[in-house]
Amino acid sequence: MGIFSKTTDYFGIDIGATSVRLVQLKKHGAKPVLVAYGSTPLPNNLIASDAADAADQLATIIKNLVKDAGITTKSVVAALPAAKVFASVISTPKVSAAELSQAVKYQADQYIPMPIDQVRLDWTVLGPGKNENEQLVLLIAAPNVTTEKYLGIFEKAGLELVALEVDVTALSRAVLTPDANQVVMLDIGSLASTVSLVVNGAPRLIHSVPTGAAAFVQAVGQGLKIDANEAMAMVQKFGMNKASMDGKVLKHLQPVVDIIMEEIKKSVAFYMNENPDARFEKLVFTGGAAGMPGLPLYVANSLKMPVELGNAWLNVSYPANMQADLATVNREYAVAVGCAARMVM
Ligand SMILES: Nc1ncnc2c1ncn2[C@@H]1O[C@H](COP(=O)(O)OP(=O)(O)OP(=O)(O)O)[C@@H](O)[C@H]1O
Ligand SMILES: [Mg+2]
Repeated sequence: MGIFSKTTDYFGIDIGATSVRLVQLKKHGAKPVLVAYGSTPLPNNLIASDAADAADQLATIIKNLVKDAGITTKSVVAALPAAKVFASVISTPKVSAAELSQAVKYQADQYIPMPIDQVRLDWTVLGPGKNENEQLVLLIAAPNVTTEKYLGIFEKAGLELVALEVDVTALSRAVLTPDANQVVMLDIGSLASTVSLVVNGAPRLIHSVPTGAAAFVQAVGQGLKIDANEAMAMVQKFGMNKASMDGKVLKHLQPVVDIIMEEIKKSVAFYMNENPDARFEKLVFTGGAAGMPGLPLYVANSLKMPVELGNAWLNVSYPANMQADLATVNREYAVAVGCAARMVM
């Protein structure tokens, strides 16, 4: 977001609640080539911690991972969780890039529920607006406290942050093909899920829901009166399958999954209200929980929409002998791949 250097040699990073993932790509014709990747689990949602030594601990983990994964650069593009930013689509007059900066800043105040001097603004022109002399602009505002926190962690890790972008922008770059016109993206992580409506490659609506795989495990644990480890095993093995365990796991998962389904329906209805001709052709599903048995089918039935499992490596070339390894992590790496692809695609 506005903090760019001229480098084209950099890697992408996704710091999630459960793990950190790195990906480095190299420009090569239409499809960038995978140079290096790696991940490591994170203790206790370290990125959200305000403990005095959390930033040091995270920086050390990242520094070691950069070395172990064989990353060959110190420049990094990082993703900010959608939950940490304010995103709105605004309409501005069709003006030059220099004038647009003024127009955006002028309007931002109405859309951002924080003092404008406490956020960093970023914007992308989406296309023509409702009237001939207008254009639609995606406005993203990230609180300074958040961007400074990320800058501090990377500095401690001996890295240079060259760009910060919202995770859904990275996701869409990684898992969508250029012909995807109107797609719902759903990422279910550990603590949060992100719903985004992507039209012609750019997010038009971004909505974060504070419910993820950890809430699935908690619901099953409480419902079946079992501990967290057992509940996690049940969730991962049986998930939403009706036939497993007489549907007992499904029974406790369903109300929690339905919270996310309702939020997707609300987002789509909100968008369709403004854009009655919109037709979302499919939902692309990423995040660790996309691997939960029966969940993609449940989502497809609930939303009456085809569901496709996202593949982080869709737009990347890699040696054939890495195919099997990469396939096992094709949902978890999507955000990191998207960051890595920011300037090479
Ligand atoms: N097969 C599975 N079934 C259900 N849940 C799963 C499965 N595999 C992984 N998970 C859950 O997915 C979560 C990790 O997903 P992911 O890597 O997308 O999260 P994250 O990016 O670290 O979290 P967040 O996006 O909330 O910061 C864990 O909570 C894990 O329990
Ligand atoms: Mg995540």
